Formats: sequence, C-alpha cells, structure tokens
Amino acid sequence: MIRIAVFCSGSGTNLQALLDACAAGTIDGTVALVVSDRKDAYALARAEAAGVETLYIDPRGFAGKEAYEEKVIAALDGHRIDLICLAGYMRVLSPFFIRRYKHKILNIHPALLPAFKGGHAIADALAFGAKVTGVTVHFATEELDNGPIILQEAVIIKEGDTPETLLERVHAVEHRLYPQAVQLIARGRLKVEGRKVHIASSE
Ligand code: GRF
Repeated sequence: MIRIAVFCSGSGTNLQALLDACAAGTIDGTVALVVSDRKDAYALARAEAAGVETLYIDPRGFAGKEAYEEKVIAALDGHRIDLICLAGYMRVLSPFFIRRYKHKILNIHPALLPAFKGGHAIADALAFGAKVTGVTVHFATEELDNGPIILQEAVIIKEGDTPETLLERVHAVEHRLYPQAVQLIARGRLKVEGRKVHIASSE
C-alpha cells in the first residue's frame, strides 16, 4: 500500500477521484495527506470529509520558496509519503524540491503534452482551433509540463465547444486516467528510461 500526498489549490475533483479509487481498492494505496497553498480550496473540505489529514501553508508567510518547501517536506516525512500527486496545484515547485522526489511526483495536465503547456491549456486548445486535445499524466521534472509521460488519452474538440463543455469531458478522462497511473506505480509496473516510461504488462 503506497502512501500518497495530493497537492491542490482548487476544487479538487481529481483529488476526489483518487480518494474514491483508494476507497474502492482500485488503487493499492491511501491518500495520507492533502496539501494546499489556499485556505479556501474546496479540496481541503473534500479531504476533511474523507477523514484525510490536511496541511494548509500560506506561502506568503515564508522568506522564500525553499523555506516554504522545507515545511512541506517535514510534513511529507512525518506522514511517510511515497508518492506526490499534483492535482491543480498552482505553485511551481523549486528544482530543490523536484530533485528530492525524483520520479515520485506526478502531475496531470489537461492537454496532450507537449501541446498546450501552462496554466490555460483548455482555453489555449480552443483558441488555437485544435480538433483534438486530451489528458496527460506525467512525472514532474524541473521543466514545467515536460516530464516523462505515463499515460495519455485524447479528447475530441466538438464544434461549438466552450471552455466549460470541453473541461467537463477532459475532467471525465482525468478522473479515470489519474487513478490508473497511480495504480501502475503502486504495482511497481513503471520503469523510466530517460524520457520514456515503460509499462510492464500485468500478470
Ligand atoms: C485539472 O484539470 C488538471 O488537469 C489541472 O488542474 C485541474 C485541477 O482540477 N492540472 P481539480 O481541482 O482536480 O478539479
């Protein structure tokens, strides 16, 4: 059973999908900690409802990013966390933090990377006139939205889609793909070689 920390800044629908998958046993693990940089993040309420410990830390109270992250690291150590899942966490982690948890931080991105990196992937795909976008689960590396890809799935953009309608279909895929990726890790089925992530077949 792996011990997971989920980092969120917002509504936490992906956190909910991970909590539900752990409860259903489709992830061999448990969400042991939810970290947020925003006090009003609905994700914190979801965590509390599920009986999961939360850590809200206001980044403004610290001298610098590393001081803030030291506090987060202490909590991760305290909860013996094996895996960190970024799920709508709106803060860029320092190279210091990323290096410390090499191949232990996952991120979910609402586009088919390397297309539409950054914080507005849904709006950017629509504005670009793309016909297909999707979801990527990848390892976080020092370069934003650039780490080795674990799983991807396409979402067709329909005529008349708005950011809201597209987000709804992207979310549906995210909520399935993120737990799947976490279970691959829990089962020890991933091997990273450079940029490539090999998935061992299940017995
Ligand atoms: C998701 O769309 C994810 O891809 C992006 O941030 C969003 C978080 O949504 N990184 P939620 O808070 O999980 O609902």
